Amino acid sequence: MNPAVLRSLETPQVVVDHARLAANIARMADLARAAGVALRPHVKTHKCREIARMQLAAGAAGLTASKPDEALVFIADRAPSVTVAYPVVDPRKADRLLAAARDTGCDLRMLADSAQGVEALEAAAARHAFDLPVYLKIDVGLHRCGLAPDHPDLLPLARRIAGSGSLRLAGLLSHAGHAYGAKDAAQVREVAREENRLLNQVAGRLRAAGLDVPELSVGSTPTVLACDQWDGITEMRPGNYVFMDRTPLRLGLARVADVSLWVLATVVSANADWLIVDAGSKVLSSDGGAHGSDLAGHGLALPLDAGDDLSQALPVLRLSEEHGFVQRGDSNLGVGDVLKILPNHSCPVANLAEALTILYPGGDVELWAVAARGKTA
Ligand SMILES: Cc1ncc(COP(=O)(O)O)c(C=O)c1O
Repeated sequence: MNPAVLRSLETPQVVVDHARLAANIARMADLARAAGVALRPHVKTHKCREIARMQLAAGAAGLTASKPDEALVFIADRAPSVTVAYPVVDPRKADRLLAAARDTGCDLRMLADSAQGVEALEAAAARHAFDLPVYLKIDVGLHRCGLAPDHPDLLPLARRIAGSGSLRLAGLLSHAGHAYGAKDAAQVREVAREENRLLNQVAGRLRAAGLDVPELSVGSTPTVLACDQWDGITEMRPGNYVFMDRTPLRLGLARVADVSLWVLATVVSANADWLIVDAGSKVLSSDGGAHGSDLAGHGLALPLDAGDDLSQALPVLRLSEEHGFVQRGDSNLGVGDVLKILPNHSCPVANLAEALTILYPGGDVELWAVAARGKTA
């Protein structure tokens, strides 16, 4: 990112290096091809139509979204296939999705992990005369959503979906988010192998009971980057890889040169201990790193001419809403200086921005709306 261009921008601002973004998208598309699995990137990270289009143009088979209203933005943008990887239990939300998918011809996929969820989807799909593919969510260790691999309800629920007049069993889906708390890449690899082993094991049981289980869908950025064993897996759903942040760096799964999203902030006040910058929790979020990643502080601030040299980074140790407290150490930076901050977690940072400022290698700057920000329903 050209320091002169960065200096010309107002702050605070969320900037994205287009060359790095494109390289991250191409690298993940290559990784999926080499692994022989379909790529269905999670759009929760960027919530941005232009980035989703880049992912699809690079060969993604479809997109993954979390909340229904987030998915609607990409269905309206004519994504060919969208998986809503969140348990929808309110039939009104399923209705909205099904109506939109019918309008655009989108291959909509949803998931369930409870009888109530299956009932809600079944009723909505019947109302829309839809043959809706539904994944069963399997809990592979995060203990957030999903049925444990040995849960007694698993086979009855799978049978219920497969035998429904309006639903079809899409397969099994898991998210090993607990990998974010691993200590290094080797530990992440173990989590990924275990996730894939568990999905294959459950699929084997369902198939032995006569059920068709077409898809085994896994993924988070750390696990797909670390994974070396793809047998039986048919699709991956990484999200964070487009931007990266301090967690994949901490895990040794990305380089600073891969981080495409940075927060630009100006020192607006200074005292003996702190450089106070104009990006607080309303820009950086208060996220300490997802799922036990437990990063110290709220980001790493670099002078604009430091490139990617993190040895020059000053930690952002405290936040109030509109202020960030950057530990000044013995730096000679002062009021008016602009810093670029490597955030703990890029996904909530994008969600807090109205637009991403895209920086092209030649110096051109473009604003891309974070069109699906704040879609919590
Ligand atoms: C169900 C599901 N799949 C995939 C992802 C993508 O994970 P990551 O952002 O680590 O790539 C997430 C992230 O929260 C998720 O919740």
